[in-house]
Amino acid sequence: MTIDMSMPGSSGLLNAARKRDMKFFGNPYVLALTGAAGIGGFLFGYDTGVISGALLYIRDDFPAVRDNYFLQETIVSMALVGAMLGAAGGGWINDAYGRKKSTLLADMMFALGSLVMCAASGPYILIIGRLLVGLGVGVASVTAPVYIAEAAPSEIRGGLVSTNVLMITGGQFFSYLINLGFTEVPGTWRWMLGVAAVPAIVQFVLMLFLPESPRWLYWKDEKAKAIAVLEKIYDSDRLEEEVELLASSSMHEFQSNNTGSYLDVFKSKELRLAFFAGAGLQAFQQFTGINTVMYYSPTIVQMAGFSSNRLALLLSLIVAAMNAAGTIVGIYLIDRCGRRRLALTSLFGVVISLVILALAFILQSSSGLCTSVANGTCQGALGWFAVAGLALYIAFFSPGMGPVPWAVNSEIYPEAYRGMCGGMSATVNWISNLIVAQTFLSIMGLVGTGPTFLIIAGIAVLAFIFVAMYVPETKGLSFDQVEQMWKERAWGDSGNCQSLLGAAAP
Ligand code: BGC
Repeated sequence: MTIDMSMPGSSGLLNAARKRDMKFFGNPYVLALTGAAGIGGFLFGYDTGVISGALLYIRDDFPAVRDNYFLQETIVSMALVGAMLGAAGGGWINDAYGRKKSTLLADMMFALGSLVMCAASGPYILIIGRLLVGLGVGVASVTAPVYIAEAAPSEIRGGLVSTNVLMITGGQFFSYLINLGFTEVPGTWRWMLGVAAVPAIVQFVLMLFLPESPRWLYWKDEKAKAIAVLEKIYDSDRLEEEVELLASSSMHEFQSNNTGSYLDVFKSKELRLAFFAGAGLQAFQQFTGINTVMYYSPTIVQMAGFSSNRLALLLSLIVAAMNAAGTIVGIYLIDRCGRRRLALTSLFGVVISLVILALAFILQSSSGLCTSVANGTCQGALGWFAVAGLALYIAFFSPGMGPVPWAVNSEIYPEAYRGMCGGMSATVNWISNLIVAQTFLSIMGLVGTGPTFLIIAGIAVLAFIFVAMYVPETKGLSFDQVEQMWKERAWGDSGNCQSLLGAAAP
């Protein structure tokens, strides 16, 4: 029998999950650990958000940058390149050296990169600094979700991992505020870029007091240390159950102290299925256009007919605030409605809002309609229609397609591959992010704004079908149950007898 993945509870193996009833705010230790790990998410958001504002002032200080679009683009996108490399390498570092050392490493890169940028004497030094913080962002984007997921009780795991996404969206919001705040301060961009060293140093110090992930410790045969960490999270009854789960877990299938190989991902059918679902979610998160909105919302707002710079900046601050607020809704819903339902509802709304956005732009460019409306009001009304589409888009995207890909990727891979596969799919996220960021404006120039949003709406329809077909529900499941589920998905009932590594895909 195969588990019906869309209906958790249909298999006996899920029954244990029902007894677990820790509340989100029920365990201060796990919350503190999540908050400290989430500083990585905050820096992810801050460092990707701050550059749009900083660039305006960098251009003023360096004439070579002002006249050179390529240099400007490189300063912006070098952090994405770094993030790609950081995520790819960070996955392996996570498995080999643990979540704690990976976080410390990310912090060193964040701090060093921020200081290099702050003191940069020219654009090329700035680019090196952007590469360094990008590497930090990449490593943190793999590490923080996995570290949180491995310490989290399964019934609140989705919400806790999504808290890291709240830190990302919060970091983006904060970066826009800082951009506004430092406009009058001498040294503008140096402060904007340099202050990111502070949270990095704070996280470095906090991490020295936090433990290594209990699951990673157990896998590396440091059983006593692992149990000591679990003792801080669970009361004695639950502790026993959790330790039993760890002990009986199919982690035994892997030799401890032996990290998996990248080739296994393609050789083993269950790993392949998991990676397909995880990486697909990450790619669709980006191709459904979130960063066209996050990076270009002032441009979009201006194209909708609002020419004031201030209003455009203000509206983009509101967009960022809505994105963070929506993530809180996601934290509330993800362990209640489940990952699938949340992602599907989110995508449904994203399609509708993108169509509204597209229509607003298409109608606006159709001059026939404009002449039938009184002086100037055509652009005004349709402009507001576009802004409503934008707001609706964020309202639907932020609780679902924002957090779900990160949450799912933190929980669908077996222990020996959690860092590696999470890293590979985060790399897919960063590559997709770069493709979208680099092509959005050109595609708009080529086919027009309205049709561009229609294309993104089409991609969101594909994303909906993808989630419906390939993404299983993992709400409330223990890691062991998730592994078992993939085996059953890959092999049916005989999944129980197949070893993950031994089983060659048909
Ligand atoms: C995405 C980022 C995005 C952010 C904003 C995150 O989940 O990975 O690329 O900028 O959400 O919502």
